[in-house]
Amino acid sequence: MKVLAINGSARQNGNTALLINHVFAALQAEGIATELVQLGGHAIRGCGGCNTCMKLQNQRCSIPNDPVNDIIAKMAAADGIILGSPVYFADITPELKALIDRSGRVASVNGGLFKRKVGAGVLAERRGGAMHALDTINHFFHLMQMIVPGAPYWNFGIGRDIGEVEHDAEGIANMKGLGENMAWLLEKLQT
Ligand SMILES: Cc1cc2nc3c(=O)[nH]c(=O)nc-3n(C[C@H](O)[C@H](O)[C@H](O)COP(=O)(O)O)c2cc1C
Repeated sequence: MKVLAINGSARQNGNTALLINHVFAALQAEGIATELVQLGGHAIRGCGGCNTCMKLQNQRCSIPNDPVNDIIAKMAAADGIILGSPVYFADITPELKALIDRSGRVASVNGGLFKRKVGAGVLAERRGGAMHALDTINHFFHLMQMIVPGAPYWNFGIGRDIGEVEHDAEGIANMKGLGENMAWLLEKLQT
C-alpha cells in the first residue's frame, strides 16, 4: 500500500513538510510506503474551463508543461492521498487549489479516479484559518467519493518560521494520530 502526499507550500522544507513527515512516520511504522510531491518551485495554473478533459476522457488535463498530469497519475495509483498546505489568508495556497480543481475535474470525468481512496488534509498555520482551509480540502475529498479518517484533534500544527511546528506538541501528536488512523483504515479497506 502507498500514500502519496502533496505539499502545496512554496517552502519545500517548511512547516507543512515537517507535519507531513510526522504522518509519514506513523504510516511507515505500519509498513505503508510513502511519497512526497512538492508543488513549490512550479508555476501551476488553475483550470482553464476548456472541458477538453471531458471530451477526451484520457485521464489528462490539457494544460501542457507543468507537473499536474504526472501528479494526477500518482494520485490515481495511490491508496491514500494527503493534501498539505500552509494556511494563506484562511485557506490553502493557490497552487494546491489549482491542483484540486484540475485533478478533481479530470478524476470526475474519467469515472472517479480517486473513488474510495483514503484522504487526509494537513495544515500549518501561524494563528488562524486552518479550519476553513481543512474544510476546503475535505470538500474535495468528499466530492471525489474518498474516505476521510479523523485525528485526535483537527489536522493542523501551529508555527510561523520554518521549524516552529516542531514545538507544537499537540499538533505533532495529531499528525501521529492521523497517520495511525489512516493506516488502520487502509488496512481495513484491504480486506
Ligand atoms: C501569504 C501568506 C498568508 C498567510 N496567511 C495566514 C493566515 O491566514 N493564518 C495563519 O495562521 N497564518 C498565515 N500565514 C502563515 C503561514 O501559514 C505559516 O507561516 C506556515 O507555518 C507556513 O508553512 P510552510 O513553512 O509550510 O510554508 C500566512 C503566510 C503567508 C506567506
